[in-house]
Amino acid sequence: MQAQRKGREDCIVLAHYYTDGAVQAMADYVGDSYYLAKVAAKADKGTIVFCGVRFMGESAKILNPGRRVLLPDDAADCPMAHMASAARIRALRAAVEDLAVVCYINSTAQLKAESDVCVTSSNAVKIVSALPNKNILFIPDENLGHFVHAQVPGKKFYYSGGYCPVHAQLLASDVESEKLARPNAPVLAHPECKAELLALADFIGSTSEIISFAEGSGASEFILCTEPGVLWELSRRCPGKRFVPVTPVCADMKRITPAKVEACFAGGGFEVQMDEELMRAARRPLERMLELAR
Ligand code: 13P
Ligand code: SF4
Repeated sequence: MQAQRKGREDCIVLAHYYTDGAVQAMADYVGDSYYLAKVAAKADKGTIVFCGVRFMGESAKILNPGRRVLLPDDAADCPMAHMASAARIRALRAAVEDLAVVCYINSTAQLKAESDVCVTSSNAVKIVSALPNKNILFIPDENLGHFVHAQVPGKKFYYSGGYCPVHAQLLASDVESEKLARPNAPVLAHPECKAELLALADFIGSTSEIISFAEGSGASEFILCTEPGVLWELSRRCPGKRFVPVTPVCADMKRITPAKVEACFAGGGFEVQMDEELMRAARRPLERMLELAR
């Protein structure tokens, strides 16, 4: 619609599934972290407006440095992105032979710059399996790391103790009580949840994998163990199916509002800026992810 495009002719708008439905409705592309990183890398418009948290905007800028990247809210940050340290990475590199540092994309550019390869929840198993190294330092999400290790048991894993404060607060007991009320409802969980909860899940995957699974499933009711922003896409793709979310909202993702996105089209927003050296060092593991996940 003409009126809606006014002011955004030279912008491409990307939104993560955890943002508010009204924000997702404004976007050109909506998806999980891996999909959005691929779209950002190829974006051919002058400005990328990234409706998500800071590490997503940083990854877009690193992968496509010729574009201006705007965040609608400067304070939208992922707490887990900071839950590792360069000092621990360097100490472990010095102490452990044949070590690959595998960095979840939910991380600062500084942590990526210390790492060998990035991963997202949808490609982590594939990428870790493809690495020749026997030892893996998986940062910062220990829960995702344990999930990957269970599927790649031949390697030794080290961790930094990080976690998603939204998914990690979900307890197995929260899901058990929902299961009692609806015994036929499959449990859909994001791998950022704790192992005790994943043990109860019928399907584990990234946001887009959860949505695709629900769409293809014959079940009519589901227990949803991921951030409830996915309900917007689920209601679009799965009409008639019912989803019972047990996970709280991510307050950082919800900082993005339609008004803040509109402000980006009118000269506002917050430009992602990093020094060239940092971007160069952080680009290597991100590009390796895109190659290995292909
Ligand atoms: P995915 O959309 O890649 O599953 O990521 C979840 C997440 O926590 C993003 O912050
Ligand atoms: Fe970070 Fe968790 Fe929010 Fe994702 S849901 S942005 S991992 S705090």
